[in-house]
Amino acid sequence: MGTPLLPLLVALQLFAAFSPAAASPHISAVISQSGLDFAKDLLVSHAAETLTPLSVPDIEKSMSIPLVGTVRMTASGIVLHSLAVTNSNVAVVDTGVVVAASLASANLAMEWSYSYNSWVVTVSDCGNASIQVEGMEVGVSMGMKNQNGSLKLSVMECGCYMKELDITLNGGASWFYQVFIDAFSNHIRSSVENAITQKIMEGALKLDSFLGNLPKKINLDSVAAMNVTFVNDPLFKSSSVEFDIDGLFIPSNETTAPRDMLLGDIEFALPFGSSSKMLWISLDEDVFNSVSALYFKAGLLQRMVERIPDQFLLNTASWRFLIPQLYKKYPDDNMLLNISAISPPSVRINVGRIDATVELDITVNVLDFGKIVPVACMSVVLDSAT
Ligand SMILES: *[C@@H]1O[C@H](CO)[C@@H](O)[C@H](O)[C@H]1NC(C)=O
Ligand SMILES: *[C@@H]1O[C@H](CO)[C@@H](O)[C@H](O)[C@H]1NC(C)=O
Ligand SMILES: *[C@@H]1O[C@H](CO)[C@@H](O)[C@H](O)[C@H]1NC(C)=O
Ligand SMILES: *[C@@H]1O[C@H](CO)[C@@H](O)[C@H](O)[C@H]1NC(C)=O
Ligand SMILES: *[C@@H]1O[C@H](CO)[C@@H](O)[C@H](O)[C@H]1NC(C)=O
Repeated sequence: MGTPLLPLLVALQLFAAFSPAAASPHISAVISQSGLDFAKDLLVSHAAETLTPLSVPDIEKSMSIPLVGTVRMTASGIVLHSLAVTNSNVAVVDTGVVVAASLASANLAMEWSYSYNSWVVTVSDCGNASIQVEGMEVGVSMGMKNQNGSLKLSVMECGCYMKELDITLNGGASWFYQVFIDAFSNHIRSSVENAITQKIMEGALKLDSFLGNLPKKINLDSVAAMNVTFVNDPLFKSSSVEFDIDGLFIPSNETTAPRDMLLGDIEFALPFGSSSKMLWISLDEDVFNSVSALYFKAGLLQRMVERIPDQFLLNTASWRFLIPQLYKKYPDDNMLLNISAISPPSVRINVGRIDATVELDITVNVLDFGKIVPVACMSVVLDSAT
């Protein structure tokens, strides 16, 4: 068992498929609102972490001030140090998802300086400042399309809005304070807003390339791999997103040893407790049939049974009254069962029930002085329904 990609709660649903067309999905994954919330929380906390420290380009400005003359002012080394997200939301719209976050506070630091020519001398001063941002909203809407079997993410809109900037200057002359605030407040605001928007766009590009590099095939072992090519565009519904993948098993080219594939060995993670389900996966019967065909072709649906719970049954002595000839010919020899499927096990899914059929050949062998001698053979058809 591999480690799950995300600790999502999974619910499985099986749907009946009727003669699927060439590129129809065999597996559909529907991420519900609670799954989207979970993914959004991961995304927002990751974004808040990678957003800081954020450097904002320097701002320079010249201004004419009566009696003083032209003053050159700069705000430099503007750095966003910390962010605190209070609240975030994700909503599904026709074309994609919208994520919005409110930030309780953001702190910036910067250096300021000014200089002007007064008669023959140049007057200059500098200091630093701290900026407290109150009420900041960040929103991004993203669309997703299928491009050559991969997901292509694009940002449709991205915005950042700050309600109030509280700038506190340290050092320097106090007369300069109001002039500076008046001249720079909006510039600093829009520079920071732009820098945040740009950083989010960069993050979206990374997410897009991550999605684009997702494998199209997941190897199970040396026999089978699942074709995880996306088919169709994701479907955005009112509070869920559906992804369709091909989902059929195809031959693998890996070299790891085949798994011990016992019928009934497949385990499904079931939702536990009353937690709301985050992900629904629907599979059709072709998924099962494609993997059983591969294992059958690889000759893996065959097994030599030497041990069973009632071990005494696998000795000719236990059969001496029922089949005296066997005991006479091979006294007290151990027996082996060779069980093999003679056709790929097939699965049919109907509304409310699953039928599985396996046709088996069972050969009874006797271990006679280290040699395996077949003594009986029977054909069995196992039908099971759930
Ligand atoms: C995987 O599925 C896609 C879409 O159904 C299909 O076009 C592609 O040929 C499949 N790949 C293989 C190796 O079968
Ligand atoms: C899709 O794949 C084909 C063939 O592999 C390639 O020619 C085409 O450029 C790809 N399209 C995009 C949009 O990547
Ligand atoms: C800001 O300037 C004051 C004095 O002008 C200094 O004590 C303080 O360390 C400076 N802070 C930073 C972050 O540079
Ligand atoms: C399997 O095929 C993929 C490409 O389809 C290739 O990148 C990989 O190296 C192959 N693995 C082996 C073990 O041959
Ligand atoms: C088990 O039976 C199958 C089919 O009857 C046969 O192909 C296979 O060789 C047998 N295996 C052994 C180990 O005898």
